[in-house]
Amino acid sequence: MGRSSKDKRDIYYRLAKEEGWRARSAFKLLQLDEEFGLFKGVKRAVDLCAAPGSWSQVLSRKLRGKEEKSEEVKIVAVDLQAMAPLPGVTQIQGDITKISTALEIIRHFEGQPADLVVCDGAPDVTGLHDVDEYIQAQLLLAALNITTHVLKPGGTFVAKIFRGKDVTLLYSQLKIFFSSVTCAKPRSSRNSSIEAFVMCQNYSPPVGYVPNMSNPLLDHSYDVDFNQLEGPNRIIVPFLACGDLSAFDSDRTYPLQATLGCWPSRQSCKEKAISQTCQ
Ligand SMILES: C[S@@+](CC[C@H](N)C(=O)[O-])C[C@H]1O[C@@H](n2cnc3c(N)ncnc32)[C@H](O)[C@@H]1O
Repeated sequence: MGRSSKDKRDIYYRLAKEEGWRARSAFKLLQLDEEFGLFKGVKRAVDLCAAPGSWSQVLSRKLRGKEEKSEEVKIVAVDLQAMAPLPGVTQIQGDITKISTALEIIRHFEGQPADLVVCDGAPDVTGLHDVDEYIQAQLLLAALNITTHVLKPGGTFVAKIFRGKDVTLLYSQLKIFFSSVTCAKPRSSRNSSIEAFVMCQNYSPPVGYVPNMSNPLLDHSYDVDFNQLEGPNRIIVPFLACGDLSAFDSDRTYPLQATLGCWPSRQSCKEKAISQTCQ
C-alpha cells in the first residue's frame, strides 16, 4: 500500500525507515518496554497479529541480542498474512481465533509455556466507529483466549485496545486473569487514534480455570447463552474503575522532535501521565 505525503512527514515513519523497522509500530513496543521493562528474563515470546513484522523484529533484536543467548530464545509470530522471514522467529500463518493456532504455538515451544504474549491485532477498519471498536474488542478477546493456552503463570500479555465505550468491560475481563492491568499510550501512537495498549502482568487465572477458545466475547444482550457459561467464565462483568483517563490528552499535539527526545525516561512518562494504571 502506498504512503501519503502526510505519512512520510511523520517522524516515526521516517525513523522506522532509517533504522530498518518494517513499520513505525516498532516504536510502540520499544516505548512500552522502556516504561515496563517488558523483555526482562523473557526467553519464549509470542507475537500475535505480527505482519508485516516490526514487533517481531523488536523481539528478535531485544531477546536474541547477545549471540550466546540466542539459542535459548524462541519467538513465534502469528498472522493471517505471510511475512518475510526474520532471524530466530518461527512464523505461523494462521487465525488467532482458532484453537489449532494455540496448539501450533504450544508445539513450537515443545510444551513449555511462553513468558510473554504480545498482540498488535487490528481488523481492517470500516470507518464505522462502533463496528470497528466491536471487532477490535473481539480480536483482543481472541488474543486473550489464545494467551490462556500458552502463557506461563506470572507471565505478561500486552495487547492493542481501542478505548471505546466497552473499554471498562474489557478491563474487567482482563482483571480476571491478571493481577495488574495497566492502560498505556506510547508517544508513537497517534493522539488522534483511540488506540492504546493494555499491559497485563502476573498471569494468574482463577483456580480451576480450564483454557478454552469459547471464552465469553462481548455481548451487549447478556442473553441466555451468555449466562450459561460455567465456572470462572461466569465472572464476566465485575465492573472495574480503571483509573482516571481524563489526565491523558489524546488530542494534544506534541512537537515531533520533542517527542523523540523526551520518551526514554520512564519517570518522565509517568510524570506526563502518558500511561495510567487501571488497578
Ligand atoms: C497493525 S497490523 C500488526 C502490525 C505488526 N505488529 C507490526 O509491527 O508489523 C495488524 C495485523 O493483524 C492481523 N490480523 C487481523 N485479524 C487477525 C486474525 N484473526 N488472526 C491473525 N492475524 C490477524 C492482520 O493481518 C494485520 O497484519
